Amino acid sequence: MSHEVFSPAWAEVFREQINRNDEHRRAAAGWEHPVSLVLEPVAGIPDGRRLLLDLWHGECRSARVVDAATAATADYVLSASLDHWRQIFLGTSDPILALMQGRVKLQKGGMFALARSAGAAKQLVLSARRVPTHFPDETVPAVSAPLPVASTPGPVAVNTTRTSFRSLEARGFDRSSFPYRLFQRAKRDGVWNPSDIDFTRDRADWQRLEPRQQDLVLRLTSLFQGGEESVTEDILPLLLAISREGRLEEEMYLTTFLFEEAKHMEFFRRFLDEVVGAENLGDLSRFESAPYRRIICEELPGAMRALLHDPSPAAQLRASATYNLVVEGTLAETGYRGYYAMLESADLLPGLRAGIGLLKRDESRHIAYGVYLLERLVAADHALWPELESRMGDLLEPALGVVRSLFDPYGDRMPFPLDQDEFIGFALSQFKSRMARIERASRLAPHELSGPGEDEA
Ligand SMILES: [Fe+2]
Ligand SMILES: [Fe+2]
Repeated sequence: MSHEVFSPAWAEVFREQINRNDEHRRAAAGWEHPVSLVLEPVAGIPDGRRLLLDLWHGECRSARVVDAATAATADYVLSASLDHWRQIFLGTSDPILALMQGRVKLQKGGMFALARSAGAAKQLVLSARRVPTHFPDETVPAVSAPLPVASTPGPVAVNTTRTSFRSLEARGFDRSSFPYRLFQRAKRDGVWNPSDIDFTRDRADWQRLEPRQQDLVLRLTSLFQGGEESVTEDILPLLLAISREGRLEEEMYLTTFLFEEAKHMEFFRRFLDEVVGAENLGDLSRFESAPYRRIICEELPGAMRALLHDPSPAAQLRASATYNLVVEGTLAETGYRGYYAMLESADLLPGLRAGIGLLKRDESRHIAYGVYLLERLVAADHALWPELESRMGDLLEPALGVVRSLFDPYGDRMPFPLDQDEFIGFALSQFKSRMARIERASRLAPHELSGPGEDEA
């Protein structure tokens, strides 16, 4: 039997489902805040409805339909329209993504604490999805949206003969295109050599660091090193897919992209060998958390290598969302910014700092290309925008988990003053503005795309 959403009977079954959800119990073990969910006024329900959940260390002690004054006593108050709650409870919209994009409004409570508890929020929503639900504007019970079925890729057609030369045609290169300008910028910027970085003072600084400080520097460096190796290897299928479409200017730019990722990998290995010393490293996989492995070792190679047998625009979109928006745009950009600021404020490890400064500049071009590619893809096929939202919905929570897992081992005593909320806040604001920009492109025709400005190329 189904219950109308936000009704007392629905609330009771929701509470039971939360308490049966062991994943929620684990993910919300540290949570001790009441949360109100507010259904905004809708035809037939002029005052809306409010549900107050008493959530305590993974348990839901009560779930009650309450009045506005009582709902406002919760530490967190989240409101949305009926349509948006429907999308969340039926599984077509991710709760954290909906929050980032303002479809769910945080009327009370801290965004950062919520973002840090993204895993618990997701489990809460999964519990709600297990409640047989119907909605007040429906006459028949709703059923959960079917999961998208992966298309079975056919063999990729390969041209074995060259029929012409693009660079010999009268039109030549499209010099005003964004990828071409980015290529020019990369050549101007991209000549730094990791072998030229001087680590003399770094070696002396390293010896003076306390063990906890060494632990954090080694943790960050080895996680970045693993990430750089992955992006070096995994960019190739995208390069191939773009090349097969005859997008010469993009291919030209992507050659610098691959070269730079290889240099980043080389740079961190030099630091490990020449400053820390190979004999002092131990098994660096000890630093890899479960969310890190999920993103870097599963989602990234999975999305990129899928292009080898399925180079379709949808597959390119999933690949670029994972590579450019999540790995580079959320993890690397935020991480390098924080790492650089940490070393700069302590005036430590100037060689490492110099390399990270140069690497940040390269990464900003990589991300600019990714945003360009995603804009181009959604402008050419507007139906790809929901695909992007769904991909980001899957990845945002583990991405925030990677950030959290950097801080967790040190508890309240970070070896350097690093602020987790600042980290997450920067990552989310960058993510939000990039998504807004791509969403705008999803409403335009390809010829209406203005492309990123000169300052970004
Ligand atoms: Fe890189
Ligand atoms: Fe990169």
